[in-house]
Amino acid sequence: MIMLNLLNLFLTLLLYLLQHLQQPLLTAEPTTTKPATTTKPGQVSKATQYLDSVGPIETKVRIIDPSVVNGYNSCNDLKDDILNALNHYVSTIIAQEIQYNVDAEKCDPNDPNNWWNQPPVEVYPYSGGFAEDAAAEAPASESGSSGTVAMKVTEDSFGTNNQVEGVDEADVVKSDGEYVFAAYGDLLYVWNATDGTAGVSITAMPYEKVDLSNCYSGTWEPMPVDDVAVAEEASNSTSSEAANATLSDVSSSNSTASDTNANENGEIIRSRKATSIMPGYWPCYQPKPSILSLLLQGKRLTAIVSESSYMPMEKETSEPRVMSDSSKLIVRVYDISNIPTDGSALTLLGERVLNGTSYNSARSVNDTAIIFATSYFDTYQLSSDLYRYNRQYCGLNDTEYEALAVKTALNKTERFAERMLEELQVQVDGKCDSIFQVAAMQSGNTTDAFGGNLLGSFVQVISFDASSDFVDKKISTNIAGGFSSGWISSIYATQDFAATLSVGSTYNATTNYWDQATFILGFDISTPIPKPFSYAEIPGSPLNQYSADLYEGHLRVVTTEWFWSDATSTSTTTNKIFVLKVPKSGEGSTMTLTGETDHVGKPNESIMSVRFMGDKGYVVTYLRKDPFYVYDLSNPSKPKKMGELEIPGYSSYLHPIEIDGVPLMLGIGMNVNETTGWETGVKISLFDVTDPTTLRVNATYVDEGAYSSAGYLPLSQKLIIPKSEYTGTANNNFDGFVVYDIGFGKVKPSYEIQHASSYDMYYGCWYGAYMPARSFVFKSKLTTILSHTAISTDLETGDRLWNLTLDVKNNTDCRPYFLY
Ligand SMILES: *[C@@H]1O[C@H](CO)[C@@H](O)[C@H](O)[C@H]1NC(C)=O
Ligand SMILES: *[C@@H]1O[C@H](CO)[C@@H](O)[C@H](O)[C@H]1NC(C)=O
Ligand SMILES: *[C@@H]1O[C@H](CO)[C@@H](O)[C@H](O)[C@H]1NC(C)=O
Ligand SMILES: *[C@@H]1O[C@H](CO)[C@@H](O)[C@H](O)[C@H]1NC(C)=O
Ligand SMILES: *[C@@H]1O[C@H](CO)[C@@H](O)[C@H](O)[C@H]1NC(C)=O
Ligand SMILES: *[C@@H]1O[C@H](CO)[C@@H](O)[C@H](O)[C@H]1NC(C)=O
Ligand SMILES: *[C@@H]1O[C@H](CO)[C@@H](O)[C@H](O)[C@H]1NC(C)=O
Ligand SMILES: *[C@@H]1O[C@H](CO)[C@@H](O)[C@H](O)[C@H]1NC(C)=O
Ligand SMILES: *[C@@H]1O[C@H](CO)[C@@H](O)[C@H](O)[C@H]1NC(C)=O
Ligand SMILES: *[C@@H]1O[C@H](CO)[C@@H](O)[C@H](O)[C@H]1NC(C)=O
Ligand SMILES: *[C@@H]1O[C@H](CO)[C@@H](O)[C@H](O)[C@H]1NC(C)=O
Ligand SMILES: *[C@@H]1O[C@H](CO)[C@@H](O)[C@H](O)[C@H]1NC(C)=O
Repeated sequence: MIMLNLLNLFLTLLLYLLQHLQQPLLTAEPTTTKPATTTKPGQVSKATQYLDSVGPIETKVRIIDPSVVNGYNSCNDLKDDILNALNHYVSTIIAQEIQYNVDAEKCDPNDPNNWWNQPPVEVYPYSGGFAEDAAAEAPASESGSSGTVAMKVTEDSFGTNNQVEGVDEADVVKSDGEYVFAAYGDLLYVWNATDGTAGVSITAMPYEKVDLSNCYSGTWEPMPVDDVAVAEEASNSTSSEAANATLSDVSSSNSTASDTNANENGEIIRSRKATSIMPGYWPCYQPKPSILSLLLQGKRLTAIVSESSYMPMEKETSEPRVMSDSSKLIVRVYDISNIPTDGSALTLLGERVLNGTSYNSARSVNDTAIIFATSYFDTYQLSSDLYRYNRQYCGLNDTEYEALAVKTALNKTERFAERMLEELQVQVDGKCDSIFQVAAMQSGNTTDAFGGNLLGSFVQVISFDASSDFVDKKISTNIAGGFSSGWISSIYATQDFAATLSVGSTYNATTNYWDQATFILGFDISTPIPKPFSYAEIPGSPLNQYSADLYEGHLRVVTTEWFWSDATSTSTTTNKIFVLKVPKSGEGSTMTLTGETDHVGKPNESIMSVRFMGDKGYVVTYLRKDPFYVYDLSNPSKPKKMGELEIPGYSSYLHPIEIDGVPLMLGIGMNVNETTGWETGVKISLFDVTDPTTLRVNATYVDEGAYSSAGYLPLSQKLIIPKSEYTGTANNNFDGFVVYDIGFGKVKPSYEIQHASSYDMYYGCWYGAYMPARSFVFKSKLTTILSHTAISTDLETGDRLWNLTLDVKNNTDCRPYFLY
């Protein structure tokens, strides 16, 4: 998997360079010198404005205005808009090539040594970027969400740590209090929540095994092999000796990507030419599908599965897909009304394949499942033929180049637009009214210098009723979406409103720079078919899903904007909280900026964590110290700072708690030596926020080590923090949790839960899957899930009750303990 990703990264970089080196000025770096403070997303334009046509092809691309939420009555109109955007894109490239790439004219077609006469560079389709699921990073499984009324002695906490009440977030582990459902790589495990030894159900995600006998590892220059690739190779012998080799030889390996492809006789296979394969690369191992997230709704469990869709040789003759198809999502709904305990699988009720789509996030609101995903388009298929270094343009003057390039481009864009619409499958009842009208999103300039941004990514909100009877096991989904500038950064959803926040750039004519900007598409998800609803643009980029929050009709968003100064070679930041009024019905479709704060934090600090609670916003910024700020957001037009507090280090996660009715904020992050700036361990801080104007540290504790997420138990007042330490030897490795007692003036380690022995972590052979840290409490029994095991511990005493190994017995994988 990592090898694929590495390759993707490489291709992406290559494409980026190819595209951007050609256009040095028009696509100015998204760096700036000043914040874009005058952005007023609320301004309503009188009539539709269009981008200037910059190149030889006349195009009509709308600049975003409130009417874009109306969608399309006819899908043909959508196709026309896509075609216009594509033509704008190719036209821009042609204009840029004429302006900057004049050497082509001097090229001598008859000179055999001419660079232009060398075989064309093999170019592979853009494989798309992947925005991380913000939810996956957030600490999981803790207080508050389950709302269980329990006695002080019996604590239950098994709900996912949801940001918004009534909106359940997808996670790799879910529980209904009776069972635990865990996504372990391609395996879906279910066990009795209170007794992990009572038998399990294991559902393996099916996949079509590909014949690897003709596999091809590419004509790339030797590239260092990453750990997993080497592990993969070593693992084939499935002996523990191989595991030893895997762990110790990785760093010194001299292997290269091009020779990992030896057959059984050790011969290197160099059988096929990459140019004849689409998408050009078929590695000599097949990654298994991976369950990314689970949703739990009544007696139904939805698994969102990602499957690599690199196809082998037979694809070479087919027309390449225009949608980047390196991965696809498969949504599977299982029946959990009758769960087997003999290791057999759950019953599959329905399935839906979403080709060329990568996962962002998912939520459930009662029976409705909502999946946020993004598709990318390989517009390089259009532009690759237009660059002047292509042989056909050698020696042509500007006029001749333009004529040929325009002809080449127009011969392709129509078909490309058609195929985009086909592959998107966005029609609902033959209509496209749930799709935001295609528009240039950036404000302030009618020249979109880089048309590729227009159609760069297609954000989709896919919903279905998880409780329905799936006829022929088909899940019929409803979809809304829109082309968004930039890349998806995070998702925010309430029961009836969803916002996708994507980060792109917007042109500032004063500075002649492209400033970073966040584009927010708002969807109405109160009806079975989600609908475009509103939009906004604000400067900077958000940190994670907690950066946005809807409260009393106002969306508050915190962003950081980075500015690079060429003069001083330093970067500066501007952090702000923006308050946007979300329109009610009849109030138009623009989220109007009602207020914004000044820069949050000291100069050059960036935001480490944020949490909105009602009319207050808590923000931690960071440079070397940990300034903790509280903002009063009760007046949407006048957000103002109420208090601040500074301690060394930083908190990267804030969690509000209450002890005896006193509001406190738990901050979990790293301790930092102020002199050296080095992180010295995990720091847990308890902030007294009773009086926001005089914040106080009530207790802190620093532990050496790392952490990834945390769980807090309000009744037992315990904090559970995962901790991993890997020494690279067989000794002193730790993978598990530390349980802390929390109280007024108290953060105190209570006991540790070790999930694997130090020896096994170093020498063991493990299944190629990995569980991130999660913790649950069932009737005062703590279940911790990490890496390859689930362990039940008596919450009070720390005594082990039972453990369950997820690692597959007699598996042919032989992976290192930590799989990255
Ligand atoms: C553009 O930059 C100038 C100078 O830094 C700044 O004053 C102005 O507010 C910016 N304009 C916009 C629309 O962001
Ligand atoms: C889980 O195990 C406990 C203890 O063995 C048992 O009492 C309970 O009935 C089991 N729950 C389910 C749902 O099977
Ligand atoms: C692993 O070994 C099997 C049989 O020994 C062989 O068919 C397969 O191609 C090998 N896989 C890799 C990745 O070398
Ligand atoms: C793995 O390496 C360790 C240390 O070099 C050695 O003691 C052990 O015997 C090896 N295990 C196997 C199965 O080769
Ligand atoms: C790696 O290759 C270099 C040059 O071929 C050789 O000198 C070196 O010993 C090799 N290292 C290992 C660990 O095989
Ligand atoms: C998804 O892709 C597969 C293989 O490329 C194809 O057979 C299938 O028809 C596609 N499904 C949809 C819904 O486009
Ligand atoms: C979800 O169910 C609850 C309880 O049945 C109900 O109050 C709520 O309105 C439902 N939410 C939606 C969005 O339908
Ligand atoms: C380009 O070449 C064509 C024909 O070869 C010629 O008619 C035209 O004048 C040239 N244009 C320029 C700008 O040199
Ligand atoms: C137009 O496209 C078709 C099909 O892709 C191709 O056969 C033809 O040569 C192209 N014509 C030009 C002028 O590029
Ligand atoms: C719009 O942006 C382009 C650069 O992309 C710049 O050349 C042009 O002057 C700008 N126009 C206005 C009206 O600001
Ligand atoms: C910070 O690091 C410096 C240099 O290593 C050391 O002298 C100093 O004692 C450290 N400070 C703290 C508070 O640990
Ligand atoms: C912590 O908070 C409690 C309750 O407000 C207070 O009684 C106690 O003195 C505080 N401790 C410290 C060290 O600030």
